Amino acid sequence: MEILYITLGIPGLEPEFIYGNLRQLGIITSNKQVVDSYVHGFEKMQKQYGDIFQIWMGSNHYFVFCRPEHAEIIYSERHIFDRPDMRLRTFGLIAENFLSTLIGPKYKRHAKAIMPMLKKHRFKSQISIIIDCADRLIHIWKDRYENKDNAICTCILTDNQQLMLDTFSLLTFDYDLGNLKHLSKIANRCNAETQTEPSEMSIAISIWLNALKRVTINGMPTFINNYLLKIDRQYQHALGILESYVENIVRKCQKEIDPNARPVNLVASLVSSLQKDEASEKRKPETEQIGIMKKELLGEVLGLILAGFDTSSSILSWFIHFVSKKSEIQQKIKEELKQHGITKETPLDNFDLLDKCQYIDCVMNETLRLAPLGFGILRTLLNDIVIDGIKIHKGDTVVSSYALMQRDPRYWKLDPTEFIPERFFGVDAPDANHNPFVFTPFGGGHRACVGQDLARLELKVIIIRYMLFVTFIDAPGNNGGHRQGMTIVPKELAVSMKFD
Ligand code: HEM
Repeated sequence: MEILYITLGIPGLEPEFIYGNLRQLGIITSNKQVVDSYVHGFEKMQKQYGDIFQIWMGSNHYFVFCRPEHAEIIYSERHIFDRPDMRLRTFGLIAENFLSTLIGPKYKRHAKAIMPMLKKHRFKSQISIIIDCADRLIHIWKDRYENKDNAICTCILTDNQQLMLDTFSLLTFDYDLGNLKHLSKIANRCNAETQTEPSEMSIAISIWLNALKRVTINGMPTFINNYLLKIDRQYQHALGILESYVENIVRKCQKEIDPNARPVNLVASLVSSLQKDEASEKRKPETEQIGIMKKELLGEVLGLILAGFDTSSSILSWFIHFVSKKSEIQQKIKEELKQHGITKETPLDNFDLLDKCQYIDCVMNETLRLAPLGFGILRTLLNDIVIDGIKIHKGDTVVSSYALMQRDPRYWKLDPTEFIPERFFGVDAPDANHNPFVFTPFGGGHRACVGQDLARLELKVIIIRYMLFVTFIDAPGNNGGHRQGMTIVPKELAVSMKFD
């Protein structure tokens, strides 16, 4: 590779102005098109420099650590490692009030309203909502593909995105965004392209996400990115659409909420936390403020929609890609459902029954392992610390690269480049006793994913419904590959469907 650059004894590549190392690693082209995943760039760096290296993603600089003992320190020292500064300068530009970009007392005010509402038991009575949404999509697929020779679905990702947008907002906000209704209305059109036209909302989301991608990689200072977003008419229009959805969600909740009752869902909890007198709260020191402001509430709802749908829909799409290549895995899931008496009529609101389906858990874990959605977990140091003999300073940002560890042959008995759910299955599963810090798809420590219980529940129920009705079959063009968006998604996904 290019010229070696060493600071603190840590190797890396001499960064280029604006691009950092992104162009040298083939992640972006000279006109800033993202053409490869960040993870692939990280793989090249590890191969060249070993388990500790530094990297510039545009103007953002990170020290990257690739061993489980590094991850253990980064996750457990909560008073030293916090949310990365860089996240506030990039993601924070478009989602300044979202939990993921907050730190300190403001983070605590938001977390108090959000975290208790995302515990698994909260969703027990709402399993039927997940089933209804999954079934709606299965019906749309039947309308589009059943009894149509050679019909191939190439829009699995966008279909799953519509599914997860509606499922997440019904579960957490009791609000129907209407994306599946829109898909259902157009499913019977004869032209394959018009059958899948995205809704107004999902177009707005994709414009919003593209803006996020731009500010993450363009390497510009914050004030320039701020200005660029302000004058970007398309982005401002998309933001207006998203904000009006969020306003509607909040208005509906405010109309229905009983101020004396305990909040029943996430949005009710956020609404109940609204400050009664924003002006007087603002006058207090930050540590004494309680509740959240109206502006923060709107930002939080928008941020949660994004975190809640994009991640889970990517994993569902990877699941379909992997199992379409290995029909025997689908067969095994179907057999497991039969073995536990789960049919199309089973309500699935019984956690003991869901827990019995352990093979599905292994398939989900294998998907999360082989298809990490990001390159790693980022933290900025609040104090100096020594990691593996190297002193890292306050203000530096480190990455614990779970994406690399999850596919590193040193930590797995069965070939980690292969999709093998059996590595986790049964009493003598070969990889069941892996080091816990090499497999952290939801991050770790005090800033781990707050939505992981919900995500696992949604994924499990949806996979069960898919497998009760559909078999996904490998089709021409199902080539996989990686496309870097907010998360990493399959580049080429094509399956045909057989309906059971
Ligand atoms: C398969 C699905 C998902 C995956 C793989 C995933 C993964 C992640 C990861 C890796 C992080 C960073 C953790 C860290 O820094 O240690 C994160 C943070 C977060 N996730 Fe998820 N996530 C998923 C689903 C969800 C869902 C459904 C929600 C909805 C509530 C959600 C909300 C969040 C939030 C709010 C944060 C920031 C937490 C904080 O900063 O304290 N995620 N997620």
